Amino acid sequence: MDYQNDKVKLEKASKDNVNLLINWTLDPIAQGPYKKVPNMNEKELKDLFLNNEDREYFLIKNKSDKPIGRFYFRKWHFNQQSNLIDWELNIIIADEEERGKGYGTSTQLLAIEILKKREETNSIFAYTMNENIAERRSLEKCGFDLTGNLINPYYRVNLGALNPENFVLYVLKF
Ligand SMILES: CC(C)(COP(=O)(O)OP(=O)(O)OC[C@H]1O[C@@H](n2cnc3c(N)ncnc32)[C@H](O)[C@@H]1OP(=O)(O)O)[C@@H](O)C(=O)NCCC(=O)NCCS
Repeated sequence: MDYQNDKVKLEKASKDNVNLLINWTLDPIAQGPYKKVPNMNEKELKDLFLNNEDREYFLIKNKSDKPIGRFYFRKWHFNQQSNLIDWELNIIIADEEERGKGYGTSTQLLAIEILKKREETNSIFAYTMNENIAERRSLEKCGFDLTGNLINPYYRVNLGALNPENFVLYVLKF
């Protein structure tokens, strides 16, 4: 399913756009200064983008149909007593020239609109590095509350070798 608002379109990951999503994921410039290129090969990424049951991947396009980034939301079941879902948002405006033009905020607002209509949604959250002012500001503009660092008893995201104190957690509850 594709979605759009007045500024961006979210086109579901498919065999037609997956190569661009893979190329951006493996490109440090597209990832920006605060995200790392994952240690995955093209085949593994393709499988993740097209077949992962917990994540919905999208190509972000502007109103002229220019591809500008990739986006996903991911379901987490932190509360094992219920079927409620806490959704993680994750965004890259991959084209550097398109950053700072409102697309990141618009994409995340669109995701909120989509996910809050789903009955099973408990909350939406995102995390980013402490220094990532653009993403922090964008999340604040979308209405998220700053919760603290990523050492959180409910939002139990495992960052592996990364230090959770270097990340801030933003949550939107309904
Ligand atoms: C972080 C990111 C998603 C933000 O999206 P964007 O389209 O560039 O940001 P927006 O244009 O929506 O701007 C959001 C706010 O941040 C501010 N901002 C944007 N870029 C900024 C920068 N480099 N430094 C400081 N503030 C910045 C904007 O001015 C705006 O605030 P304002 O309306 O109060 O002026 C995008 O820059 C990006 O993808 N960067 C690389 C990947 C990344 O860091 N992803 C998130 C990591 S979890």
